[in-house]
Amino acid sequence: MSFRNEPVLELRRAPVRESLLDALGTLDARLPMDVPVLVGGEAGGDGTFESTDPGAPGSVVAVAGRATESDAAAAVEAAQRGFRDWSARSAAERAKVLRDAAAILRERRLELAALQVRECAKPWPEADGDVCEAIDFLEYYARDAIELDAGRALVQVPGERNTMRYAPRGVAAVIAPWNFPLAIPCGMTAAALAAGNAAVLKPAEQSPASAGALVEALHSAGVPRDALSLLPGYGEVGAALVRDPRVHVIAFTGSSAVGLEILRASAETPEGQGHVKRVVSEMGGKNCVIVDADADLDEVVPEVVYSAFGYAGQKCSAAARVLVHEAAADTLLERLAGAVRVLDVGQADRFATEVPPVIEQEAKERVERYAAMAAPLARSERPLPDEGWFCAPTLVADLPDDSPVLNEEIFGPLLAVTRVRHVDEACDVIDALPFALTGGLFSRTPATVERVTARVPVGNLYVNRGITGAMVGRQPFGGNRRSGIGSKAGGPDYLLQFVEPRVVTENTMRHGIPVE
Ligand SMILES: NC(=O)c1ccc[n+]([C@@H]2O[C@H](COP(=O)([O-])OP(=O)(O)OC[C@H]3O[C@@H](n4cnc5c(N)ncnc54)[C@H](O)[C@@H]3O)[C@@H](O)[C@H]2O)c1
Repeated sequence: MSFRNEPVLELRRAPVRESLLDALGTLDARLPMDVPVLVGGEAGGDGTFESTDPGAPGSVVAVAGRATESDAAAAVEAAQRGFRDWSARSAAERAKVLRDAAAILRERRLELAALQVRECAKPWPEADGDVCEAIDFLEYYARDAIELDAGRALVQVPGERNTMRYAPRGVAAVIAPWNFPLAIPCGMTAAALAAGNAAVLKPAEQSPASAGALVEALHSAGVPRDALSLLPGYGEVGAALVRDPRVHVIAFTGSSAVGLEILRASAETPEGQGHVKRVVSEMGGKNCVIVDADADLDEVVPEVVYSAFGYAGQKCSAAARVLVHEAAADTLLERLAGAVRVLDVGQADRFATEVPPVIEQEAKERVERYAAMAAPLARSERPLPDEGWFCAPTLVADLPDDSPVLNEEIFGPLLAVTRVRHVDEACDVIDALPFALTGGLFSRTPATVERVTARVPVGNLYVNRGITGAMVGRQPFGGNRRSGIGSKAGGPDYLLQFVEPRVVTENTMRHGIPVE
C-alpha cells in the first residue's frame, strides 16, 4: 500500500476553526492533565513537575511524574523483557499495531492539536501539522519496516545462497525535544518499534503531556507495556539512559550541546557491555537563505518571513540568516522591515497569530540577549500581550562576521541579514558554519540553482520556497556536519539505524540443494 501524507485541516473554513475551539474548550476544562511515569505499565516517579502555558505561565497544563535515574534503570529492564515479546512478532503484526496507533491519533487530532496550543504555544496551523506529521511517521515506518523485513537482494552464484536480513538491535532510548512535542517523539519511537526494538521514551520537560498521549495511543493499539515505557523528567534521566549498558540505540533530537554530550557518553563501552551503542543525533542549526539579485522579491519576502518567524523561529529548520546579493539588498531590507513591523504577535489560540510566545523564560532571556547585541532594523510594532514569554520579532542587518548573532543558534524570532557580493560568497559563508541543517535559495537562474545545490552542505535545501515544513516521505529531514549524524527522519534510510544487518551464506552444494 503506498504512503500518502495525512491531509492538514482546512483552517480557512469557519466550521473547522470552530471544531478546534470546541476541542480547546474541552481540553481547558480537563487541565491540568496528569502524566504518570510509566515503567512497564507500572506508575513510578519521585514527586512531580509541571508544564505550563508559555502564553500564560501561571496556568498549569500538565502535572507529570518526575522520573528518576532508578526509573530509567527499571524501564530498561522492562524493555529487555518487552523486547523478547515484541521482536518475536512478525513485521506485519508490528506494522498493524503502529497503524492502529495512527488511527487513534487521527481520531483525537483536534484534542492533540489543542494540547500543543496550550503546552507549547504552537499556533493552530503548526499544531495541526505536527499531529499530521506524527500520524505520517507511524504510517510511513510501518510500511517501511515490512519492506525492510524482506531483506536485500544479493548476488547469487551456483552452490551458494546469500541472504541479507535486518534484525532489531534491542533497547532504544528515545530522547526528544519540545518543539515538535508529538511528531518528533512519535517519529523516533515509531521507528524503533517498527524495526522490532523496545523503546523507553524520555520527552522534553516542557512537553510531557503530548508524549503521554502518544504512549497512551501506542499502548492502546497493542504495543506491550514492557516494550514501551514513558519517563517524563529532566536531562538527568536522559543521561542515565545514555549511560545504561543495556541500551543499544539512542535516538536523540535536540540541541547540539546535548547531542554532542550524548555522542561522547555513549562511546563508552564499560566492562560487561557486549555491544557498541548506535546513536542517532539530530541537532541544532543556523539556517541561511540565499537571495540572488534576480530573485522574485514578491515571493522571497513572505516565504522568508514565515520561515524565520513562524512558531517564533522555534523550528529547527527556521531561517536565522539571509545572505542577499548586494544589488537586491536595500530593496529586500526595506520590504522585510515592513513585513516584520506588522507581524501579528499574539496568543497561540488566536487564528490570526503569526508569532506566538517562546517556550519559556530562559528562551525569552536568550533571545533578548542576542537581540541586544545588534541595533534593530525593524521590530514588530504590535504591542506584546501583557502575559507570556513574548519576544518582539526583530530584524537586524550588516553585523560583523564574528557576531554571535550570525554564528550561534538563537532559536527565536530574530533574523539577521548580511549582504554578499555574489552567490558564491554566500556559499562560502554557509560552508564556514559548523551547522548544516536546512538552507534556502531564491534565484531565477537554473545554472545558479545547480551551482548552489552542488556547493552547500546542508541536509535539506529548499529552492524558491520557504525552508520549513518538511513532509514525511517527500522531504526526508535531517542535518549534516554538527547538525546531525542521522540518516533523515521520514526517509527510506531512517529505519536502518535501528537494525543490524545479518548476512547468511549457505553452501547449498554440500547438501545437494539446487539453487533456483
Ligand atoms: N535536527 C533536528 O531535526 C531537530 C529537530 C527539532 C529540534 N532540534 C533542536 O532541538 C533544540 C531545541 O530542543 P530542546 O530545547 O528540547 O533541546 P535540548 O537539547 O535542551 O533537550 C532535548 C532533550 O534532551 C534532554 N537532555 C538534556 N540534557 C541531557 C543530557 N545530558 N543527556 C541526555 N538527555 C538530555 C532534555 O531533557 C530533552 O528531553 C534546538 O537546538 C533545535 O535546533 C533539532
